[in-house]
Amino acid sequence: MDYPTLLARLGEGSAHPGGFQATKELIGQIGFARGTKVLEAGCGTGRTACYLAGLGCDVTAIDRNKDMLLKAIHRAKISGFPVRIVHADVSSLPFPDETFDVVFTESVTAFTQGSTAMREYLRVLKPQGVLYDRELAFARKLTAVQKKKLQSFYGLHHMRTVPEWLNLIGKSGFHHYSASHFVQIKQPTNDNDPLRVMDHELFTKPDVVAMMKQNERLMSTFSNVMGSIVITAWKV
Ligand SMILES: C[S@@+](CC[C@H](N)C(=O)[O-])C[C@H]1O[C@@H](n2cnc3c(N)ncnc32)[C@H](O)[C@@H]1O
Repeated sequence: MDYPTLLARLGEGSAHPGGFQATKELIGQIGFARGTKVLEAGCGTGRTACYLAGLGCDVTAIDRNKDMLLKAIHRAKISGFPVRIVHADVSSLPFPDETFDVVFTESVTAFTQGSTAMREYLRVLKPQGVLYDRELAFARKLTAVQKKKLQSFYGLHHMRTVPEWLNLIGKSGFHHYSASHFVQIKQPTNDNDPLRVMDHELFTKPDVVAMMKQNERLMSTFSNVMGSIVITAWKV
């Protein structure tokens, strides 16, 4: 089993830096108007997608992981929010050009090659649309050995520093863009997702328990260099 599969089976949707609390804070700062057409790219178990729908946004949510999508469909059904949920990869979005006012994504682009996803976000945004992208960022360049450790465990494609993220977005065709300050990763707090659907049997499997321990070890080893930024980028 790989780490993304483990997260899906654990029903851990908010596995991005800062978790769901950070998501709610960011959404509060942005202040979406009712009816805003939002694409939530990499929706996981649909927690953010349902939250945005609850605020009156018109939400389409995609994910490439089918287990995650089933959990997102379940959440939307139980909570009664009209979220459109689609199986898709951010590198090839099944939507026409200029469909959305906003693309909202957290800890997804780093798992792709980068520029293709950015081009797709730009393509599906309407003129004056905005991308909000919270991504894992590194305080300094990692060595090849360090990169390999993180790459092989988490399936990360890139471990970019803040200037490297800005360089990527600068080359992606957005009209203007900015990045928030770098925030070091804190240990995730248990924010008690009432609609989490978890496969409890996993905890009885030694290989799964070993993976959880490895995650904790990596988090602790890299805690001083690993953090996140929020990129805001405008299409004009
Ligand atoms: C940190 S989670 C996002 C959590 C979500 N925003 C929430 O509120 O629960 C990242 C998600 O991105 C998905 N993902 C990763 N790479 C992807 C890709 N290339 N295309 C679509 N989804 C992807 C993963 O399956 C995972 O569910």
